[in-house]
Amino acid sequence: MTLWIDFWDRPNAIYADQRNLEAHFDRITQDLMPHLPSGGTVLDFGCGEALGAGAMARACGQVLLFDGAPSVRRKLAARLGGQPRVRVLDEAALAAQPAGSVDLVTVVSVLQYIAKDDLPGLLARWRDLLAPGGRLMLADVVATGTPMLRDVRSQLEFAARHGFLMAALGGIVRMALSDYRRVRQQVGFSTYTPGELSAVLERSGFTVERLPANIGPTPHRFTLVGRPA
Ligand SMILES: C[S@@+](CC[C@H](N)C(=O)[O-])C[C@H]1O[C@@H](n2cnc3c(N)ncnc32)[C@H](O)[C@@H]1O
Repeated sequence: MTLWIDFWDRPNAIYADQRNLEAHFDRITQDLMPHLPSGGTVLDFGCGEALGAGAMARACGQVLLFDGAPSVRRKLAARLGGQPRVRVLDEAALAAQPAGSVDLVTVVSVLQYIAKDDLPGLLARWRDLLAPGGRLMLADVVATGTPMLRDVRSQLEFAARHGFLMAALGGIVRMALSDYRRVRQQVGFSTYTPGELSAVLERSGFTVERLPANIGPTPHRFTLVGRPA
C-alpha cells in the first residue's frame, strides 16, 4: 500500500462530522446525475464512503465501487452488501473486470493522492475498461498553485450553507494537527493545471473536454472528461 492509501485506511479527520459527509456526497451525487449513462455501468474509482452509490445505481444500471483502502472497502461491503445494483470490488475483482465493460469511470478527488508517474498506467487500464462511447471523468482535481487558504474558505462557505460551521472550524484544527500534512510532505500531493492534465490524457489516447463547473463542493477545482480517441 502507498503511504496515502495507508492514510485513508486509518480513521481520519477529513470530514468534520456526519452532516459534512452527507452534504459532501449529496453534492457530488447531484452533480454526477446528468452525466450517468442510462442503463449503463459506472466504476467509481477511489470512491471513499460513496454515500450516493444507491441513488447513482438507480439512475444508471450498475455501480462498481473500488477504493484502494481495505478498511473503506470493508465498510462499503457491510453497508451496501444487500444492494443488487452496487458491487464493491477488491483489487482482484477490479483486475478481473472485463475490457469494454464500463460506460463511465469516475475518479473524484483522488488524483492528488496518485504519483504523477503512476497516472499513465491507470489511464491505460481505465481506457481498456471503457465500452465504445464510454467516458472517463477526472473530477475535483486540485489545480497547481491553489493556496491552502482557498480550500479552507471554500470548506467554511460550504459548512455555513449546510449547517456544520462550528464542526468545520474544529475539523480544520484537527486536520492541521493530523498526519495529513506529514504524509503530504513525505510522498507529495499531485496537482495539475487543466492544460497539463489534458496533455497527459491526450498522450494516453483520450480526447478531452473540460466541464464548465467542477463536480463536488469545491468550485475552484476542475473536472475533465476524456473519451477514447
Ligand atoms: C478524498 S477521498 C475521495 C472519496 C470520494 N471519491 C469523494 O469524492 O468524496 C480519496 C479516496 O481515494 C482513495 N485512494 C487514494 N489513492 C488511491 C489509489 N491509488 N487507488 C485507489 N484509491 C485510492 C482513498 O482511499 C480515499 O478513499
